[in-house]
Amino acid sequence: MVSENGQVMQAVEFLNPGENAEPRVTQQKIPALQEGEVLIRVYAAGINRPDLAQMAGRYPPPPGASTIPGLEVAGKIVAVKGETAGLSKGDKVCALVSGGGYAEYCSAPAPQCLPLPEGYDFIRAAALPENFFTVWVNLFEHGRLQKGEKLLVHGGSSGIGTAAVQIASALGIDVAVTAGSDEKCAACLELGATTAVNYKTDDFVDILGENSTDVVLDMVGGDYLPRNMQVLRDRGRHVSIAGLRGWTTEISIFDIMRKRLVLTGSTLRPRSIAEKSTIAKALHETVWPLLAAGKIAPVIHEVYPLEDVATALSLLESSAHIGKIILKIDA
Ligand SMILES: NC(=O)c1ccc[n+]([C@@H]2O[C@H](COP(=O)([O-])OP(=O)(O)OC[C@H]3O[C@@H](n4cnc5c(N)ncnc54)[C@H](OP(=O)(O)O)[C@@H]3O)[C@@H](O)[C@H]2O)c1
Repeated sequence: MVSENGQVMQAVEFLNPGENAEPRVTQQKIPALQEGEVLIRVYAAGINRPDLAQMAGRYPPPPGASTIPGLEVAGKIVAVKGETAGLSKGDKVCALVSGGGYAEYCSAPAPQCLPLPEGYDFIRAAALPENFFTVWVNLFEHGRLQKGEKLLVHGGSSGIGTAAVQIASALGIDVAVTAGSDEKCAACLELGATTAVNYKTDDFVDILGENSTDVVLDMVGGDYLPRNMQVLRDRGRHVSIAGLRGWTTEISIFDIMRKRLVLTGSTLRPRSIAEKSTIAKALHETVWPLLAAGKIAPVIHEVYPLEDVATALSLLESSAHIGKIILKIDA
């Protein structure tokens, strides 16, 4: 709870980042605002796989970012500083942040805030920013994905995957996924994928076929890369967003030349506010109406109170979930 003088709040701290890290709720300072920022009373925060990497000491916050974990929040604005693009106290928003989300209060650059989609509560809105910003920029900017093309999403049942399947299907793209169980595959088909391959029992190259796919959104890396190149057709685009099975691999340079492939990828967190603002505007214009109309919706696996952050992170680590895990922070 916030103290009477309003200076401290409950927030999560990763004690001993590394192998024996321990997520704990502790009392921490309410963030001071920079010019152009808003202070959000957070009611829900999304958890994401990069948070596990931060806890393990492999993904430190970028310079100037909060050391409190958490890359996305939803809540109500309680203070603003300077020019905040029309946002003011009392507005309900969700926001992409570079850290600080697992807390009662979080600061956010105004251009990284979006209004709650019509009919959305804080829990559902907190499930949007990190995955929707990432999917949008990687599929449509880096992957140059077009209506009528064929997309393969690895990790189709992940937070990222469930967003990618829905956004792409809703925009007229034929989506195939891989996932680690029949239940996860069924969930992806339900969300709009037309093919789902359980990679534990089947081979995605055999099922999809060589030269079948325009864009691969890949979080697996390692030995998947040469196989992804097999399924890509002439002028295909390979977009890397993580390397869950490894960061290095051997590929044929001649295959890149022969098929005129583009190998690309990106990270979201270190991007400038201006770049994030451009993505926010595109999402607001194209994806927010789909959310408001109920054509797509974030998949929420489980909601935990902030005090149960350790259980929430263990569930994410186990990969037993489908979609998003959310922390709820009561008033
Ligand atoms: N580059 C960026 O800007 C950016 C931004 C956000 C997230 N990411 C990355 O995107 C990935 C997904 O994030 P998320 O928050 O959506 O995670 P998530 O919900 O935890 O999903 C990750 C999924 O990957 C699969 N997986 C785990 N270990 C694997 C392995 N060794 N080989 C193959 N599949 C494995 C699991 O599903 P199965 O049961 O199907 O194996 C799991 O559900 C993470 O790696 C994250 O770091 C990148």
